[in-house]
Amino acid sequence: MNSDLKRLQPYPFEKLASLKQGITPVKHLAHIALSIGEPRHAPPAFVLKELARSLDKIASYPLTKGTLELRQSIANWLVQRFKLPADSIDAEQHILPVNGTREALFAFAQAMVNRENRPLVCMPNPFYQIYEGAAFLSGAEPYFYNTTRDNNYLPDFEAIDDKTWQRCQVIYICTPGNPTGAVITKQQMQWLINKAEEFDFIIASDECYSEIYFDDNNPPCGLLEAAAEMGNTDYKRCVVFHSLSKRSNLPGLRSGFVAGDASLMQGFLKYRTYHGCAMSGHHQHASICAWNDEQHVVDNRSMYRQKFNTVLEILSPHMDVKLPDAGFYLWPQTPISDTAFAQKLFAEQNITTLPGQYLSREAHGINPGENHIRMALVATLEETTEAAERIKHFLQTL
Ligand SMILES: Cc1ncc(COP(=O)(O)O)c(C=O)c1O
Repeated sequence: MNSDLKRLQPYPFEKLASLKQGITPVKHLAHIALSIGEPRHAPPAFVLKELARSLDKIASYPLTKGTLELRQSIANWLVQRFKLPADSIDAEQHILPVNGTREALFAFAQAMVNRENRPLVCMPNPFYQIYEGAAFLSGAEPYFYNTTRDNNYLPDFEAIDDKTWQRCQVIYICTPGNPTGAVITKQQMQWLINKAEEFDFIIASDECYSEIYFDDNNPPCGLLEAAAEMGNTDYKRCVVFHSLSKRSNLPGLRSGFVAGDASLMQGFLKYRTYHGCAMSGHHQHASICAWNDEQHVVDNRSMYRQKFNTVLEILSPHMDVKLPDAGFYLWPQTPISDTAFAQKLFAEQNITTLPGQYLSREAHGINPGENHIRMALVATLEETTEAAERIKHFLQTL
């Protein structure tokens, strides 16, 4: 067996299951899960209708590259959303549909990393666990850059030394961040693009939360937008990952895309052709409908906005918690250790949250996830409000 498999860490939810093992929560309160980042708003009805209408596509093998129609609808969306020069995105060269960003983020490092010369794959800490697995399976070492409260949970790229940049082949960035909700600024992205040019590495920007933000006039900046604005309109060394899971409440559709540097996309297509991970035809049809519509995304945002307002009104007098830049997580510090907090909250209020240390590693002398808790505000307004009320009571007992 591939010995790199042994390097994969237990997934956070396995650790959470062990933490909860043997605890019987209070019986009179129904369970509320704030632990899983799975959107629970209703999927758009018109997308489901299209999915059913195009079921006959199941009779043929789909192309790994997807249909031109799908890639064109994605290109149009990218150009509009990130204000890109229209002729800079070519649906033939710059875009590949993927079965959700998770598989693509995992596969990408394996397709890109050259195993010679002790490669590093850099990633935020705390982080979406797939990046680390991707580094291991690509034969690289993970390098963690911490995102801490002192820095508003933003990366400090300038603190990374040249020796690290020399070995870096791929850097994952996650903006808006999971779990922190922090949005990397355009200036930081442009600084990183210059570094990528200087040290010849690839920037893989996970932007799957980019459409969940609170100020309609101030959407999060994307890596392609930052690149285009500095004249890098062939998106050299830049690749972005987007998804319908959070934007359109379609996590089960497994639909997203990767876009950017044409030469990298060509290599990735070759890899994917062998891997055999084409998106089903009916999923492609449904995805086109979703990418072509913005109204359901606007409505989705306003549901999150209302939930965050309500929850923060209840919790902020009792806990150091604030509205994130974007995304659907709260990432507050805990008054006791994060694992004890999660365990007690489960026992006493039947609420499951995710201890921050399960999403991070010890790096540069600290574990930046420690003493934080991740709460996903994905359920209905009623359920999240109920959860906030219970957490308030719980905090008053500590
Ligand atoms: C940061 C981040 N990236 C990627 C994903 C994967 O999403 P999907 O595969 O549904 O596109 C998730 C899912 O929770 C995530 O939190």
